[in-house]
Formats: sequence, C-alpha cells, structure tokens
Amino acid sequence: MKVGIIGSGIVGRVLATGFLKEGYQVMLGTRNINKEDVVKWKKENENGLLGSFQETAQFGEIIVLAVSGLAAEDAINLAGKEHLSTKIIIDTTNPIATVPPENGVIKFFTTLEDSLMERLQKLLPGSKIVKAFNSVGNAFMYKPNFNGQKPTMFICGNDDEAKKTVTNILTSFGWETEDMGKAEAARAIEPLCILWCIPGFIRSQWTHAFKLLKS
Ligand SMILES: NC(=O)c1ccc[n+]([C@@H]2O[C@H](COP(=O)([O-])OP(=O)(O)OC[C@H]3O[C@@H](n4cnc5c(N)ncnc54)[C@H](OP(=O)(O)O)[C@@H]3O)[C@@H](O)[C@H]2O)c1
Repeated sequence: MKVGIIGSGIVGRVLATGFLKEGYQVMLGTRNINKEDVVKWKKENENGLLGSFQETAQFGEIIVLAVSGLAAEDAINLAGKEHLSTKIIIDTTNPIATVPPENGVIKFFTTLEDSLMERLQKLLPGSKIVKAFNSVGNAFMYKPNFNGQKPTMFICGNDDEAKKTVTNILTSFGWETEDMGKAEAARAIEPLCILWCIPGFIRSQWTHAFKLLKS
C-alpha cells in the first residue's frame, strides 16, 4: 500500500521511516527536496521516495498530514484538494499558536468548541480524516518502549472503516487505540498535546505517553 506523507518535519520523517519498516511504499512530501533534513532522510531510507506536496497527495492511497497547524490549509491547497478527496488522511497536526507558552502551557488558535481537524474536514468534505499521533512526541510514535506497557493513542473521525485501517496501523506501530468517536472529539484529543508538553516545559521531562486505564 502507498502512503503519502505531506510534511517533512520530524513527525513526517519519523512516520515515513516507520511506514517503510512496516513494508509500505512511502513518499515524503516537501516544498523543498533539497532541504538538509530531507536529503539526510533519503540517504538513510533508500527505498523512500521524495516529492512535492502535490506529487505526494497523488501518490498516496493513505495520506499522513504532518505540517505545522498554522500551515495546514496552505499545505492542503498546495497538495490539491482533488488529490485528497475520498482518501484516508491521518491528521497528526496540532493548532499551536505562535505565542510562547505560559508556565509551560502552550496556546492554541482554536477554541474548545472547535478543532483544527474539524476545520480540515470542512475543507475536505469527501476525505476520511482520522486524528492520530498528535498527543505524543515524535520519539515515541513508532514502536515506543515503555518497559513492555502499551501506551494509548486516542483517535477520532467520521468514517468507521478509516478508523479501523488507522487502528491496524497503530497496532503495528506498537500502540493500543481508543476510538473517541466523530470529528468533534478532536476538541478533546488536540488539547492532549498541551497536557503532554507541560512536563517538558516545566521540568524537561519529554519521555512519557498517555494510557487509558479501565476496570
Ligand atoms: N514534533 C512533535 O514531536 C509532534 C508531536 C505530535 C504532533 N506534532 C504535530 O505534527 C505536525 C508536524 O510537526 P513537526 O514538528 O514535524 O513540524 P512543523 O515544524 O510543525 O512543520 C513542518 C512542516 O510544515 C510545513 N510548512 C511550514 N510552513 C508551511 C507553509 N507556509 N505552507 C506549507 N507547508 C508549510 C513544512 O514544509 P516543508 O516540508 O516544505 O518544509 C514542514 O513539512 C505539527 O502540526 C505538530 O503540532 C508534532
């Protein structure tokens, strides 16, 4: 299966490598294939392909959106909405504002009655967007090691089949998955990023993930 990763930041590169290790064909999408990090990624991942956002959107049967939240709409427009409609889009983005954190609490440009995922779903009504990977640091996205304990990835989205596909991907990446329902649940899942970052900013602790305990 072909995966197109729109975004060549650390999240895009880590997930691209993870998908390659799981046997997928992968194209990493960027506005500049000569960027140092991108060139290094290609050297380390010979089987991986590089392309523009548009080529990546055309290539992928499954799309991963891994761009800065503020640039998400621009990236989608560059990719071409027509190449994204009907596809599963794994949305890793967070709506982080450009202002600095306050006592370790980062700020969002969305409200609790809104989420970036819902805005993107409105922009791409035919796409099957699934929120995932936004509530953990990139170092733990693929095969995280928490002394044998599986962390929980919270996902949501309007298409049940797409969520099953993403759950299978998450299982192979070493996660247990909790489906929180439709796109509106992103109003709760996106702010998990704020909570995840607080220990990092206030005591330099970045090596954790969430787990849902059930009795
Ligand atoms: N870093 C983490 O550990 C982490 C964890 C969970 C979730 N996230 C979320 O995942 C997303 C990606 O994070 P990241 O840290 O990998 O990278 P990032 O610095 O947030 O974003 C980098 C990507 O955004 C693209 N971009 C920037 N400005 C753009 C513009 N004006 N138009 C189009 N594209 C633009 C860049 O394109 P080029 O490829 O062309 O440079 C690059 O692909 C973010 O939404 C972030 O909040 C990050």
